[in-house]
Amino acid sequence: MLEEVRFFVVAHRGASAYEPENTLRSVRRALEIGADAVEIDVRLSADGVPVVIHDETVDRTTDGTGRVAEMTLDDLRRLDAGQGEGIPTLEEILDEVRGRAILFVELKVDEAALPSLRLVRDVGMLDEVLFISFSQNALSRVRADEEGAHIGLIYFKPSDGIVGAKKLGCEFVLPYYRLATGKAIAFAHRMGLRVVPWTVDDLETARELKRRGADGVASNRPDVMMPLRE
Ligand code: G3P
Ligand code: CA
Repeated sequence: MLEEVRFFVVAHRGASAYEPENTLRSVRRALEIGADAVEIDVRLSADGVPVVIHDETVDRTTDGTGRVAEMTLDDLRRLDAGQGEGIPTLEEILDEVRGRAILFVELKVDEAALPSLRLVRDVGMLDEVLFISFSQNALSRVRADEEGAHIGLIYFKPSDGIVGAKKLGCEFVLPYYRLATGKAIAFAHRMGLRVVPWTVDDLETARELKRRGADGVASNRPDVMMPLRE
């Protein structure tokens, strides 16, 4: 399925410009818009459940306080992540996205790698998921356990990206958009990697990235990016 998409419009944390980030509501909005892919962030609860939340603590995005890794799923379930939405589990998001879009599962902590992989494999969605991470360690755990998993390396510094991704067996690199120069994109393509920069909310910048050869763009406003698919 990943191979079939020519240019990826990726809804970053769901359609997070319009709905609370990383919630079922923001994912549903992204699907309504028709995004090719939805990106979400995954951590582990204290009782080992892959849950969808960006930060190390719940403080910024919910009405609670505390570290995600020290809270059980029950604790996390009690919180409001915006407009009455709860913190979803990865399983709930997989269920929502299945057959409708690709899911970019960002592994925010290395410990989330194998539990997330197992879940994706158990529900038969390996071909609908791209595991992404800043952590090469997280991605190599996925790769070591499952050759069939699709993986992509996210990077923020020029030195981190393309060669490391190739060594890991990635199919994708996800550079901070300012690092996605024509030269970097061409180099990644020569290495057989597709390039999806993040996070861009204005169409002109995204158009320029596409002109340079980018294979997609992650945006909080996926609706704005839809013309790029044509
Ligand atoms: O897709 C990559 C991007 O999501 C990484 O940044 O901080 O929004 O998770 P962040
Ligand atoms: Ca992310």
